[in-house]
Amino acid sequence: MKIKAISAYEILASGGYPTIEAKVELESGVVGVASVPYGVSAGSYEAVVLLDGDKKRYHGKGMQDAIANITEKITPVVLGMDANDQQAIDKKMIELDGTENKRNLGGNAILSVSLAVARAAAIHKKIGLYKHIAEIFDIKNDFSELPKPMTVVMEGGKHADDTTDLQEYSISAIGGVSVKESVRQVMESYHALGKILKENKFSTNVGNEGAFAPKGIRTNEVPFEYIVQAIEKAGYEPGKDLGISVDAAASGFYKDGRYLLVLEKKALSAEELTAHYEEWMKKYPIVTLEDMHDEDDWEAWPPMREICEKHNIELIGDDLTVTNKTRLQKAIDAGAISSILIKLNQIGTLSETIETCLLARENGLSTVASHRGGGETNDTSMVDVAVAVGSKFIKVGPTRGERVSKYNRLMKIEWELGQG
Ligand code: PGA
Ligand code: ZN
Repeated sequence: MKIKAISAYEILASGGYPTIEAKVELESGVVGVASVPYGVSAGSYEAVVLLDGDKKRYHGKGMQDAIANITEKITPVVLGMDANDQQAIDKKMIELDGTENKRNLGGNAILSVSLAVARAAAIHKKIGLYKHIAEIFDIKNDFSELPKPMTVVMEGGKHADDTTDLQEYSISAIGGVSVKESVRQVMESYHALGKILKENKFSTNVGNEGAFAPKGIRTNEVPFEYIVQAIEKAGYEPGKDLGISVDAAASGFYKDGRYLLVLEKKALSAEELTAHYEEWMKKYPIVTLEDMHDEDDWEAWPPMREICEKHNIELIGDDLTVTNKTRLQKAIDAGAISSILIKLNQIGTLSETIETCLLARENGLSTVASHRGGGETNDTSMVDVAVAVGSKFIKVGPTRGERVSKYNRLMKIEWELGQG
């Protein structure tokens, strides 16, 4: 399983800009390939996505410098290492980079190699990537509880123009049925939502994440009403089979200490915003809320978490925690969250991602593995990570190839395990 060669090249991500695909070849002849995503509403504390800045190529968003870092800097130190020794390889790359946010080599460069190594090792061992991950990180999991879909059905914020201030409204499967059945339930509800939007004279064009992104929605509350109607129209019970999840991505509408809800024409303090949210908690079958306050507004989070708890809702950190163990520990100590969003590229190696997931687990927090907004690829590593660590949900949009590849991977895992 010794690493014989590493190569990397640009491919296109879902938004039409480049990202990196890396290829790791073992002495056995096995090849592992992985590509990495990036976000549109990325948190400030994420690992750096190293871009060329050459305005003549892709408006400065090329990744040739990051690729050169793989071939010239990472390859010489990783070559000859055992692909099964993921932790040692990741540690080598972290040390070589030497910065807190991987700005030297680029989180995009490091993660692509990290994941390609894992893929090569899993193929060599002839086991699924999720089994390989569980094995090397010593995770006890019989895979009887697989993650369920949290499907983004309406999007706004930075992901679409002239829509809601809140970034995502999702339908989450909570009825305890199989992956295959829960995927069917959320997709049928998504299609029902399309019909409801049409009946109400809204467009059913989709945004970055493949969810509906209608212009002209009057308030940030309207989507809740339509989604409840859609779940019922599809024949399911809101709050029992399917619930609603929201990601406000509130850092995107936080200015000078105020939260600006443009649709409501309101500029709210953190407390007022929390009270506003609680009205929705009382009215709608909400199961999770994410980034409802700014990534640096630490004081706003603990009271929000308490109110969520009262309504049996999990409060998820995303930009707040950025899959980072140190920030997660701070959030746990502060009582800021009850769940954490997991995005591999926020932290930049497989090992650190798993460490964060395990820290969450030890502290009784659930994990939700997530796609990225505008820069997704067909790579499905996030699904295998979710299965390996026992995530509660995978958060992914409902249409477009780079999104459905995640559901397809999850359904395939269930089928292979003989559970679907
Ligand atoms: P991003 O958004 O990938 O564009 O950052 C997704 C999210 O905030 O969860
Ligand atoms: Zn988010």
